[in-house]
Amino acid sequence: MNSELPRRPEWQALRQHFAEIGSLHLRDLFAADPARGERFSAEAAGLYLDYSRQRISTDTLRLLGKLAEACALPRHIAAMFRGDLINTTEHRAALHVALRAPASAQIWVDGRDVVADVHTVLTRMEVFAEAVRNGSWLGYTGQPVRNIVSIGIGGSDLGPVMAYEALRAYSRHDLRLRFVSNVDGTDLAEALRDLDAAETLFIVCSKTFTTLETLSNAQAAREWCVDALGSDAAVARHFVAVSADTGRVAAFGIAPAQMFGLWDWVGGRYSMDSAIGLSTLLAIGPAAFRDMLAGMHAMDVHFRDTPLAHNLPMLMGLLAVWNNNFLDAASVAVLPYEQYLKRFPAYLQQLAMESNGKHVTVDGVRVDYATGPIYWGEPGTNGQHSFHQLIHQGTRIVPCDFIGFGQALNPLPVQHDLLIANMLAQGEALAFGRSADEVRAEGTPDELVAHRCCEGNRPSNTLLAARLTPWSLGTLIALYEHSVFVQGVIWDIDSFDQWGVELGKQLASTTFAELSAATLPALAHDSSTNTLIRRYRQLRDAPGR
Ligand code: F6P
Repeated sequence: MNSELPRRPEWQALRQHFAEIGSLHLRDLFAADPARGERFSAEAAGLYLDYSRQRISTDTLRLLGKLAEACALPRHIAAMFRGDLINTTEHRAALHVALRAPASAQIWVDGRDVVADVHTVLTRMEVFAEAVRNGSWLGYTGQPVRNIVSIGIGGSDLGPVMAYEALRAYSRHDLRLRFVSNVDGTDLAEALRDLDAAETLFIVCSKTFTTLETLSNAQAAREWCVDALGSDAAVARHFVAVSADTGRVAAFGIAPAQMFGLWDWVGGRYSMDSAIGLSTLLAIGPAAFRDMLAGMHAMDVHFRDTPLAHNLPMLMGLLAVWNNNFLDAASVAVLPYEQYLKRFPAYLQQLAMESNGKHVTVDGVRVDYATGPIYWGEPGTNGQHSFHQLIHQGTRIVPCDFIGFGQALNPLPVQHDLLIANMLAQGEALAFGRSADEVRAEGTPDELVAHRCCEGNRPSNTLLAARLTPWSLGTLIALYEHSVFVQGVIWDIDSFDQWGVELGKQLASTTFAELSAATLPALAHDSSTNTLIRRYRQLRDAPGR
């Protein structure tokens, strides 16, 4: 059986269209339409998107719109907002939009209004956060909390870390937040090295409360805390949990009163605005956290109610499909020109790649087209002095998303204009390049002309907002969440499961038993794994130089 997408007339129309316009240069497209820069733009919830530097025409957008209709995008969007079980392989809803719905909304799942549940937990989080922030929550020895260590991995870490870094300007600077994710003991050791247990609160974040890395780190943190404070009773004042599994949390020794819940309809990578965001709330406080939720909700409403031509997540999602499947661009560089967004690309990697890195359709048919591209990136201008060379002159097309803000959070005399000048210049250079004639006209010696030419015609989006705030961060996150969803709908994949991560986990548990056994058991792996296991044990047990 073949996957349906490439056989759809709308897909074939796009193929045909690409054959006609694929070789057009952005220079020609801009020359033919002086208003292109304004025309190919859209704005919502304070976010401005310029997509005029994509290698598209008005026809491309029309044909992508037809494809979206043929793939029933509006029906899928309605299903997501309704709470249908759109994560079909796990029989679950993907209802992250409920996490930021206002208290007046209602969304029913299995006869329960989940919005009411969300607000109950949110209020409990706020009460707890206020107690920590105003010093009335005391540790075991009577000291207020000054350090918060969040332990989690994947979606239980990347979103909170990203949001903490992004919103540092809004955070209480007398509260020190640290994040521990890696099972490598260095992560925990370095996080705890200079902390006083008496004033340290741990948040153990794990939706399933089965994740090996998180549970091992939480266990080690607990031992550190109990050793330092001299009693098991200290756990009650120094540990809280965020999870969907009350039983496992209780078995770990954290009382239900100190657990903040989430639900199976919240995917890990879509959970930074659930109780998994407790560290964010502790850092920025309840009002700012609610601002972030409001920004996300504004983007949700925009996505749900706006026609394609003005719909930011739809435009970005469909353009990503165009670049991925027609321009054959295998990756997307996310380049925030805002230092506080330094962890945004890492967060997006999980969001996009765990969602859309799939090789079968929702019906289990092997796809015969490319699905999710590789997301990567670094803040500008740092990347300009490292990998931008490849984006400008390499042999691969790397579509870029530039993200910038009108106002700096730490204004210095010239820096912000310099920063944004660089961002705009990169997009311009990528799009228009520098021809051989232009290079020659600058007096370049003949032998260097080819080296100095930049072909241009490299696509990018530019996102601009007034200022990085909890609200604008919320709009940005929801924009990417929904753009990833649009891509998944077109590719006909389940964007909400992650079966691919399971095999490695299973093999690691067998290998762990073999590594930790007193005497090496018979090995039945491939010869590479067997040899590496033996060599590792030798190195571990008789360390050389
Ligand atoms: O292994 C992948 C994964 O399941 C992610 O999808 C998830 O975000 C992460 O592990 C952490 O899971 P948990 O919150 O259950 O510890």
